Amino acid sequence: MTEPSRTPSNASRYLFVLIAGLLIGIVAAVMAMRAIQARQDPFPGSLMHVMARQSQMLNDSRKQNRCTVNDTLPRLQTLRALSNDLDLAFAGLRDDPRFQQHASRFRATLNDALAAAPADCTALAAVTEQLGNDCKACHQDFR
Ligand code: HEC
Repeated sequence: MTEPSRTPSNASRYLFVLIAGLLIGIVAAVMAMRAIQARQDPFPGSLMHVMARQSQMLNDSRKQNRCTVNDTLPRLQTLRALSNDLDLAFAGLRDDPRFQQHASRFRATLNDALAAAPADCTALAAVTEQLGNDCKACHQDFR
């Protein structure tokens, strides 16, 4: 029997080192993730999320049979205003003629919709379908 107390004491030391290593690893991983996140510009994603929410609200209106100009016009105006910022948000893409084409198609759809704001659900359905196609067209090339 040589030094029976040694084994448990070593085990707890290893356990301490293991736990300390795990904790340091977690802290380092969180710090690295935050540093990566801080370097990303939140503007493009935010613009897209707000546009998505506005489109979603238009679709919801249609499903709930709320298709008066009062329901649709504010959403369309917001989308139209947001569409002016596509170039600002995607500075790296704005020199691409295809991006410009998609962006101006999207703005044209909104201009038409604003010039004759949908006042019933059939007209609203046509507008939301066209808008959805415009979103999809740009995403197919650039997302
Ligand atoms: C002219 C181009 C263009 C148009 C039009 C466009 N998008 Fe986008 N969208 C993009 C690009 C580019 C990305 C990729 C952004 C990124 O990964 O940073 C994107 C990404 C997104 C995302 C994901 C964002 C994220 O951070 O995860 C959503 C949601 C989105 N778009 C919704 C829409 C909706 C809804 C419409 C139409 C109402 C629309 N987009 C119209 C170019 C466009």
